[in-house]
Amino acid sequence: MDEPRYDEATKTYTTGHSYDGIEELNTPLPRWWLWSLYMTIVWAVIYSIAYPAWPLVSSATAGFLGYSTRGEVAQEIARVEAANAELNTLLANIDLTVLKDNEPLHQFAVSAGASVFANNCSQCHGSGAAGAVGYPNLLDDDWLWGGDIDAIAVTVRHGIRNEQDEDARYSEMPAFGDILEAEEITSVVAYVQSLSGLDHNAELVAQGSELFADNCSACHGETGMGDRTQGAPNLTDSVWLYGGSDAVLTDTITNARFGVMPPWSPRLTDAQINAVSAYVHQKGGGE
Ligand code: HEC
Ligand code: HEC
Repeated sequence: MDEPRYDEATKTYTTGHSYDGIEELNTPLPRWWLWSLYMTIVWAVIYSIAYPAWPLVSSATAGFLGYSTRGEVAQEIARVEAANAELNTLLANIDLTVLKDNEPLHQFAVSAGASVFANNCSQCHGSGAAGAVGYPNLLDDDWLWGGDIDAIAVTVRHGIRNEQDEDARYSEMPAFGDILEAEEITSVVAYVQSLSGLDHNAELVAQGSELFADNCSACHGETGMGDRTQGAPNLTDSVWLYGGSDAVLTDTITNARFGVMPPWSPRLTDAQINAVSAYVHQKGGGE
C-alpha cells in the first residue's frame, strides 16, 4: 500500500493501491447514487416483510399486510355480486312471462344471460346460438320442446334425455333398423323428403306414406308436423337437426339419435337459468 498521491494527468488522487505498477484512481460512487442504492435495499426488506414475497414449498410468505391479488379479485367479485344481489333475487323469483314488462330487469337478464350463454352453452349451440348438426339452432322459430320463455327455462333447468335429472325432457325414437326392412326404410326416407319438398324418389312415396302412418305418426304427427310434448321434430320444414340427405335420413331412421343435453340446475343459480332463458328467448325465435 503506497501513500495516496495527486495524479497530475487526471487531476485526481489515487487510492494507494498499486498492482504491477498500475495505480487506482480514487473516484468513489456519487453520494446520491449510493444513498439511492441503500434506500432500495431498505425498501426491499420492508416490502418483503409487508407483502407476499419469499417462496415456500407450496405457497409463499403471506406478508403482515395480508394482501393478495387473489383476495383483491374475490373482493371485486363480492362487490359486483352485492351490487347485483337485489336484481338477482328479483330475477330468480320472477314469473318469466311478465319479465318483459320490467324493462330494466329484462335488460339486466339479457346481458347477464349473454355471458352465461358464452360460458356454458356456446360449446354446443355455437357462440351465436345458431347451433350445429345435432345441436339445435336457438335463433329460428323451429322448436323441438317449445319456444315460449317458460318452456325454454324448463329445458335449460332439467336438460334433455340425461340421467342426472329425473325431470329431464325425455322421449326415445326407436332405432328402426330393428323394426323395418332396409327397403322399407328407403321408402320412408323418400316420403320424409317429400314432406319438405326435397328431391326424392316419387315411386316410393306411397309405400313410405303408409309406413310413416303406422310407425312414425305417433310422435311426428299424421302430417309430419312434429310434437313438442315428445321433442319430435317437425319434418315438413327446411330446418334439420341432423340433415335431409338420403344417407343422413337413412342413418337417423335406422339407428335413431337420442340427443342429450345436461341439466343446468345443479350448475347455474335460478337467476342465471332465468337470465339465460331470457337471453335465448329474445334471440328472435322466442314465442
Ligand atoms: C353438451 C352440449 C350442450 C350444451 C353445453 C347445451 N346444450 Fe342445449 N341442447 C343440446 C342438445 C343435443 C339439444 C337437443 C336435444 C334434442 O335432440 O332434443 C339441446 C336443446 C336445447 C334447447 C331446446 C331447443 C328446442 O328446439 O326446443 C334449448 C332451449 C337449449 N338447448 C338451451 C341451452 C342453453 C341455454 C344452454 C346453456 C345453459 C345449453 N343449451 C347448453 C346440447 C347442449
Ligand atoms: C317415440 C317417438 C318417435 C317415433 C315413433 C319416431 N320418431 Fe323420429 N324422432 C323422434 C325424436 C324425439 C327425434 C329427435 C331426435 C333425437 O332423438 O335426438 C326424432 C328425430 C327424427 C328425425 C331427425 C330430423 C332432423 O331434423 O334431422 C327424422 C328424420 C325422424 N325422426 C324420422 C322418423 C321416422 C321416419 C320415423 C318412423 C319410421 C320416426 N321418426 C319415428 C321421435 C320419434
